[in-house]
Amino acid sequence: MDRQAQIELLLDHYENPRNRGKLENPDAHMTWGNPGCGDIITLYLKIDDSERITDIAFEGEGCTVSQAAASMLTEKLKGQALSYAASLSVDDITSWVGREIMLSRPRCALLALDTLKLALRYLPKKLV
Ligand code: FES
Repeated sequence: MDRQAQIELLLDHYENPRNRGKLENPDAHMTWGNPGCGDIITLYLKIDDSERITDIAFEGEGCTVSQAAASMLTEKLKGQALSYAASLSVDDITSWVGREIMLSRPRCALLALDTLKLALRYLPKKLV
């Protein structure tokens, strides 16, 4: 994907966020913020007995990159196994947002991933 297409994709996710909102009775949720700017993301996950993410949503306030990356994350994770979520790395987020954005705004691009990793770390025991 070229630079322009990458920027357009980010803007589309910011302006038309996927899975934005709150899930009632989530199996896991986590709020995390970027201390440098105060931007925050809350992730909500529904997880079934086979450890699959059946639904996921986010709420948040912040810059274009942080909110677009959160939207991308939820789109990629819906229907996936928890093990896939746990395996996500900086390289995966880089491939979604683009190398240039990751290099210039790493904390923004990684806020949703950091929030996800914390949510997984504090999963209720029944899911571990
Ligand atoms: Fe705060 Fe981007 S400026 S997360």
